[in-house]
Amino acid sequence: MDNEPAFFETNPKAGSVGQPLDRVDGRAKVTGQAKYSAEYNSLPGLVHAVLKTSDVAKGRIQSIDISAAQKEPGVLAILTHQNIPQLAKTPNSPEGKKAIGAPMGFLPLTSDQVHYAGQPVAVIVADTLERAQHAAALVRVQMAAEKPLASYEDLRAELFDPQKVQDGKTDGHTVRGNPKAAFAAAPVQLTHTYTHAINHHNPMEPGATTAHWEAPDRLTVYESTQGVTRTQKALSTMLGLAAEQVRVVTKYLGGGFGCKGSTWPHTVLTVQAARAVGRPVKLSLTRPQMFTSMGHREDQTQTLKVGATKEGKLLAIIHEKTSTTSPWDNYAEPNSRIINLLYSCPTFEATYQLARANVMTSTFMRAPGEAPGSFAIECSMDDLAYQVGIDPLEIRLLNYADKDYSNNKPWSSKSLKQCYARGAELFGWSKRNPKAGATRDGNLLVGWGMATASYPVHNNQGTARVRLYADGHALVQTGATDLGTGTYTVMTQVAADALWLTPDKVRFELGDTKLPTAPNSGGSVAAGTVSSSIYVAAQDVWQKLIKLAVQDKKSPLFRAKPTDVVVENGRLVLKANKAKGEDYATLMKRNETPDIEGSGHGKYGAGYESGRAAGPADSGHQDDMAGHSMHSFGAHFCEVKVNPELGTVRVTRWVSVHAAGRILNAKTARSQIIGGSIFGIGCALMERTVRDENFARYTNSNLADYHIPVNADIPDMQVEFIEEHDPFINAMGVKGIGEISMVGVAAAVANAVFHATGKRVRSLPITPDKIL
Ligand code: MOS
Repeated sequence: MDNEPAFFETNPKAGSVGQPLDRVDGRAKVTGQAKYSAEYNSLPGLVHAVLKTSDVAKGRIQSIDISAAQKEPGVLAILTHQNIPQLAKTPNSPEGKKAIGAPMGFLPLTSDQVHYAGQPVAVIVADTLERAQHAAALVRVQMAAEKPLASYEDLRAELFDPQKVQDGKTDGHTVRGNPKAAFAAAPVQLTHTYTHAINHHNPMEPGATTAHWEAPDRLTVYESTQGVTRTQKALSTMLGLAAEQVRVVTKYLGGGFGCKGSTWPHTVLTVQAARAVGRPVKLSLTRPQMFTSMGHREDQTQTLKVGATKEGKLLAIIHEKTSTTSPWDNYAEPNSRIINLLYSCPTFEATYQLARANVMTSTFMRAPGEAPGSFAIECSMDDLAYQVGIDPLEIRLLNYADKDYSNNKPWSSKSLKQCYARGAELFGWSKRNPKAGATRDGNLLVGWGMATASYPVHNNQGTARVRLYADGHALVQTGATDLGTGTYTVMTQVAADALWLTPDKVRFELGDTKLPTAPNSGGSVAAGTVSSSIYVAAQDVWQKLIKLAVQDKKSPLFRAKPTDVVVENGRLVLKANKAKGEDYATLMKRNETPDIEGSGHGKYGAGYESGRAAGPADSGHQDDMAGHSMHSFGAHFCEVKVNPELGTVRVTRWVSVHAAGRILNAKTARSQIIGGSIFGIGCALMERTVRDENFARYTNSNLADYHIPVNADIPDMQVEFIEEHDPFINAMGVKGIGEISMVGVAAAVANAVFHATGKRVRSLPITPDKIL
């Protein structure tokens, strides 16, 4: 039985995992009891900070007149580059940047230099928010302005090769085989250029920090972040404190989508303001400030060359990406990663080019790389299908990647064919008229499009602590964060099953650097890593109980070999004779052990079938990782109706089918896919931040002018999952679904628009002016 998946061995009924359990934090949220980072209002002497920002995108501060503002009642401090105390380390030097971590490569208020519009130039602290805002309006800043660069499209912009795309996962330049020769010789050659507007994350809860110096060398920060540990590291490094002197707490998040995956200037400035006034300080970014404070998805152009046989078999793919970065950063979304592995293609090449402009740096945004990369490859595959005269789904099956061609490794699991088949069945794809522009509903043009989705399981690990009480409840802790997507709920389910409890007997805590270290909730790693660490920690508890039993003269298991004992229904029993044993509560009570604690380390590539899931925390097995390529896969099917006179596009039907390993909660998973698909529909049809080319300022930095889908824009969405058991990825066999939900979505919409109209729009968003 040793080769059986450990999870099933422990709990064959798998009682709670997978069930559509309601959110355990739902009640706290809807009743307002859930405390977000800007809601710690009872801290003693709490005061308010606001940022004064620059309207000028490039230049130097000549003078700052704070005299009028200072005289206002309630004003406690006005910090500028002239009076703010120095930090132990700033990100402004390469060593500082490395120690602090990407993407902060420049900290405002460290000099008179202004690099982007929206850059903070002063922090105003007052006893009320209104007084701080009023005083900020009275601060007078004189700038020596220079003409800024607004994007790579400016003819003055110099392009450079970033060498390595900054997330460290993909080389800036990748080559497989001889793609140039293969393309030149290919009977079918497509060369197309795709452009992507600037997108902003815009989580419902803006960036917010409440900083409380409890002693001169002890800081607690309530921070809206996707990772408390990463924030702790960045802040302690800048402040010159030991990590344990900085506590970061994030109990609830109102979304993040990547913009809360890093530490940004406003957080550091709030901490400095709190130190300056000797009181807890709260700062919440305004919605317009959200457009210049926490990154964005960069404006970018991709040129994709696809060479194929006349039957549609891929021979060559050549990808070039050009995008805008900030004056201090080299960030580019790694678009080529998905293009390199989605299909079976013998040759491949990818290059990146960046241009510096006077903008806040771009950063990862939901499916960074995969989202825009999939737009290019999935539109090109659609073009290829029409070019060679076969169905868009057929062309994908024809080029199906039976292994990962980017690294020549077998997949740990891949159920994409099942996703295609089920999606096509639910959608009724077989009834599609192959001709573009030929289907009508009254005067509306009807189009059906589809696209493939994929997202990697990233290498990550984390720890958890489980305390089981003899009275039948448990406390489960890990320093993870819940973006609002259901981490509290699914981890409660995992712990319940692993401990043979019902979910109501589990109290799950997260979001605090005092708890065991978990990774950032980003890159879709939280569900797999955190669930695995909890599962392994529960195994540790059972192993300790088994040890207790076999040494206890009064136990029916006395002197049994620990490896002969298994756990069933919360009872420790002999594998060979399951009638012989006892329940853990009896054992613990007899031994005067009110509770017992276990810890666990969830690792990437430590799958249940390999028997490594319950291995020692520090063994760091890389074997499974080295042996397999680990990805989730899926397919989206979209129907649009286009008004040919107005150019308006409405998504009228949607089907998504994904395979992502074990699905922990049917309800939260479905919601996650729906949310990501809507995110992608927004990207496809609406979302666009406009950066003025003369002033490098955003002209629509608010939710009235930055359009996102509302309920009326979205049809009922059909979401299904293909059951998939992946024995290699991690102890729970969970791949994660946060990012894959939006991969391929823009292409599915664009492909449907093409089918409806016969017009190929390769520029996002697909607004009416581009259709007409
Ligand atoms: Mo996600 S863009 O890795 O938070």
